[in-house]
Amino acid sequence: MSMQTHETIGSLRSQIVQARRFGRRIGLVPTMGALHAGHVSLIQAARRECDTVVVSIFVNPTQFGPHEDLARYPRTPQQDLQMCHQAGVDLVFMPSVAEMYPAPSATEVNVPALAGRLCGISRPWHFAGVCLAAAKLFNIVQPDVAYFGAKDFQQAIIIRRMAQDLNFPIRIVICPTVREADGLAMSTRNSYLSPAERQAAPGLYESLQIAREMILQRQPPAGEVIQAIRDHLARRAPGGQIDYVRLANPDTLEDVEKTEPPVLAALAVKLGSTRLIDSVLVDR
Ligand code: PAJ
Repeated sequence: MSMQTHETIGSLRSQIVQARRFGRRIGLVPTMGALHAGHVSLIQAARRECDTVVVSIFVNPTQFGPHEDLARYPRTPQQDLQMCHQAGVDLVFMPSVAEMYPAPSATEVNVPALAGRLCGISRPWHFAGVCLAAAKLFNIVQPDVAYFGAKDFQQAIIIRRMAQDLNFPIRIVICPTVREADGLAMSTRNSYLSPAERQAAPGLYESLQIAREMILQRQPPAGEVIQAIRDHLARRAPGGQIDYVRLANPDTLEDVEKTEPPVLAALAVKLGSTRLIDSVLVDR
């Protein structure tokens, strides 16, 4: 089957109904487009494990704050379609905002116990917007499996918990973070970085690797590890404004004192006007 692009829920669903009738296993990769190798790794995982691979490309307005980058978020549809085609995608769903939100949603979907932590402290609206979009996409596509990146660890476990709590019959797969050669986690927002900021950006992952080594070697108290991360960031990315640096339980996202693995080391740093996030799961 050659790749098809659908802009309406109705036309996408008629194809999905066909695929289901043939007993195909359907994999969904939700994205906001401006695709890069991180997105492609999710598509490849779906391609390996599913018969019909669906990629959604939708810059979801409900997850952006009023003063965030919705208007200037990169949109590269032609390039995205080419990348999807090359990666062997079957169906691309590219709805308009009016198609997804014909009226403002009166329904909220949220997982407050997990959404109030880490990124949710400085972006309290964000995960409700993500969950709303994800729940809609899950009901539109009805996939067997949906793929998310560990790059956005909090997002992935919130969606997994939403699917579990609301009985979506969907397996949530979390794929490893794809990085540039210097360790910077690939992100659409990296394109906002000035040359100087781009040079400082690998400091985020470097500091997380320092944390990983400390935890694996001697499990120091969390405060000591957090200080080491902050010290490295201060040296390596001196202009950076730290939003948070935390060591958390990877299931509950609650702060830990003892650093017995598994521990999630997570941070958010603003370089200029660009907010970058990264995390590592330290496990034995
Ligand atoms: P977006 O930022 O486009 O990311 C789409 C998916 O790609 C997410 O699951 C994200 O974690 C994953 N991803 C991004 N960079 C990655 C990297 N370097 N390595 C591995 N995976 C990576 O996340 C969203 O869109 C939206 O919030 C969405 C889930 C689509 C809901 O609107």
